[in-house]
Amino acid sequence: AKLMLLHGPNLNLLGQRETDIYGELTLDAINSAAKKQVEATNIELISLQSNSESQLVETIQQAKADNVSLIVINPAAYTHTSVAIRDALLAVEIPFIEVHLSNPHRREPFRHHSYFSDIAEAVVAGFGADSYRYALDAAIKIIQKN
Ligand code: DQA
Repeated sequence: AKLMLLHGPNLNLLGQRETDIYGELTLDAINSAAKKQVEATNIELISLQSNSESQLVETIQQAKADNVSLIVINPAAYTHTSVAIRDALLAVEIPFIEVHLSNPHRREPFRHHSYFSDIAEAVVAGFGADSYRYALDAAIKIIQKN
């Protein structure tokens, strides 16, 4: 089975960007931890970060063709703006878990609305890099049940 891990805009700057909010870990560190976590299973992990909405849409479309079973996605700022990424996830009908490092609900009001939460299997937010760990743990469980 295949698990896709998607990171949205500016997450390439993790470790340097607003470290009081997002922590000191780099995206590479998060991706290697994810790789390790999945290593013990028979699941194949596909990871991608993009600053481009169109690339994220195209990658989600491609996930269908590639038989991806589940997507773990931090849409980053597109969480609050992107009908296009929402529609891509609805179109491919691949279940997904929404992840955030911070808890958007304790931040500015414009971060309180997500275009994803009402169609996500689950949402993990506010645990820093551990949000990914918990989401992947849940994703592995869901995939192995099927
Ligand atoms: C974020 C929260 C978003 O509001 C923000 O735009 C991000 C990161 C998070 O992981 O906490 O870029 O998705």
